[in-house]
Amino acid sequence: MSTPLPLLVFAGSTRAQSFNRKLATVAAERAQAEGAQVTHIELADFDLPIYNADLEARGTPAAAVKLKELFHAHPAWIIVSPEYNGSYTALLKNTIDWVSSPIKGDPLWSSGTKPFAGKVVGLLSASPGALGGLRSLSHLTPLLLNLQCWVAPKQFALSRAGDAFDADGQLVAEPARNAVHGVIDQVLWAGQRLLP
Ligand SMILES: Cc1cc2nc3c(=O)[nH]c(=O)nc-3n(C[C@H](O)[C@H](O)[C@H](O)COP(=O)(O)O)c2cc1C
Repeated sequence: MSTPLPLLVFAGSTRAQSFNRKLATVAAERAQAEGAQVTHIELADFDLPIYNADLEARGTPAAAVKLKELFHAHPAWIIVSPEYNGSYTALLKNTIDWVSSPIKGDPLWSSGTKPFAGKVVGLLSASPGALGGLRSLSHLTPLLLNLQCWVAPKQFALSRAGDAFDADGQLVAEPARNAVHGVIDQVLWAGQRLLP
C-alpha cells in the first residue's frame, strides 16, 4: 500500500464477550497487517443518550461531536454489526443518528451527511445463529447508501459465532478468515482509489 489508508473499525455491540467486537479485532488486525492506519474504537467509550431532538436543541453531546470528527477523518470504515430481530442494533442506529444529525449554527457540522459522504464502508456481522447476522447487513446497506457511503460489495456474515473463535480470539476456520480478508482487502483497494 502506498500511503497508509486511515481506516476506522467499530462494532455495534458493547457486550463484554461480544462476538462482533471479537470480529472487529480480527478485522482491525488484518487491516493493520495490510498496511492500513487503523483506528479501532469501542462505542462503549462514547456516552450517547438515545437521540432526542429536544435534548439536541440544548446542545449536541460532546461524544457525538467526537464521533463526527472520527468518522469524517477516516476515508474508509469497517462496521461489524450484530443482528437483533432481523436488523442492526439500536446502539448502531442511535450512533448513526447522532453522527448524521446536523449541528445548527455550527459551520463545521451543518451538513448531516458530511461525516458519511464518500466513505468506503465494509460490512461484517457475527451471530450464534445460522445466518450470521446477514439480515442486519441487508438493512444497514441501504441506510449507509442513503448517507452517500460507498458500501463494498463483498460482505461477510459469520455464523455459529460461539464456536468460531479460538482462545486467542482468532477465527478457527480458514474459509471464515478468507472471507474477512476478502472484505478488508476490497475496502482497502477501493479506499485508496477514492481517497479525497
Ligand atoms: C433482542 C435480541 C434480538 C436478537 N435477534 C437476533 C436475530 O434476529 N438474528 C440473530 O442471528 N441473532 C439474534 N439475536 C442474538 C444475537 O445475535 C446474539 O445475542 C449476539 O451474541 C449479539 O451480538 P454480540 O455477541 O456482538 O453482542 C438477538 C439478540 C437479542 C438480544
